[in-house]
Amino acid sequence: MLRSVVRGCGSYLPERIVTNAELAQRVDTSDEWIVQRTGIHQRHVAAEGETTSMIGLKAARAALADAGMDASEIDLIVVATATPDHTFPATATQIQAELGITEGAAFDLQAVCSGFVFGLATADKFLRSGAARAALVIGAETFSRILDWEDRATCVLFGDGAGAVVLKAEEGGGTLADRGVLTTHIRSDGRFKNKLYVDGGAGSTKTVGFLRMEGKEVFRHAVVKLAETVQHTFSETGLSGRDIDWFVPHQANRRIIDATADKLGISHDRVVVTVDRHGNTSAASIPLALAEAHRDGRIQPGQLVLIEAMGGGFTWGSALIRW
Ligand code: ACO
Repeated sequence: MLRSVVRGCGSYLPERIVTNAELAQRVDTSDEWIVQRTGIHQRHVAAEGETTSMIGLKAARAALADAGMDASEIDLIVVATATPDHTFPATATQIQAELGITEGAAFDLQAVCSGFVFGLATADKFLRSGAARAALVIGAETFSRILDWEDRATCVLFGDGAGAVVLKAEEGGGTLADRGVLTTHIRSDGRFKNKLYVDGGAGSTKTVGFLRMEGKEVFRHAVVKLAETVQHTFSETGLSGRDIDWFVPHQANRRIIDATADKLGISHDRVVVTVDRHGNTSAASIPLALAEAHRDGRIQPGQLVLIEAMGGGFTWGSALIRW
């Protein structure tokens, strides 16, 4: 059977770093409050004119270089983003054009913070069915553009950035020993729309809007739903938290990450954490963390990597990958 094997991974963070101390000059908050509640110390913010497609392109180029592959080999681009350059065309087609690709398909996918897991699950289906040969799955966000910088409850949480993986369809034996994406689980439940949303849009207000969130409610749902989606992976594969080499969760909040790892029986030294330096970069957070741990040699070929995320909608999901 065909498997979607990770051939490369790359990321990009905008140059400008905004510390908690800088935010404390703008809104009534403190470094102590932010660190204690979220684990976030700083975040990157895109420069004026630096768009989601620009940072996504940099991550994509880094992933292709890591894979040692040429852009012409890619016949599917999925960009997970809630902050596209324009309402249309898709950010993915902009990146496709910049890469000089004129074959295959490129489209955006909207599942907010779960976007990368949804994108990986989607690309995996294309590759395993033989509909595509090699895919770029990109998570790229400029959440700084949809933040209400006067709302201390949300503006301290998010950051900008992009990450990408190159997946290639390769023959596998159909067992858990195969390299590649082994299982994916994605879920949505639109009843929770009002817990986390943007209060504008092309089809309603004709504006972009600002992010709004009931933080406590999101927190409560996150720990339950994230553990539930991973339990599906465990029951399907017969694996447990002890079998996971690296847990790379969506980076929203250090307390959510720790509580989820504890629930799943995954020791904290097996968890990749970037939220302290990146904040919550939505769909970009997992590929940013994957790229960091891949680059610094923590994640090694053949190891089992578990990813999970939850985001607005609600949407949530997980994937198990043998690197
Ligand atoms: N600085 C100082 N005080 C603040 C700040 C701030 N930046 N923000 C809120 N407060 C105040 C509130 O006004 C409130 O004050 P009050 O008691 O006088 O009314 C007090 O702090 C407590 O506020 P809560 O919202 O109850 O604080 P909580 O402990 O729940 O922490 C937080 C808030 C960090 C947002 C938390 O709920 C959380 O992390 N939720 C998850 C949200 C999240 O991660 N969303 C990301 C998108 S979804 C995802 O990616 C999974």
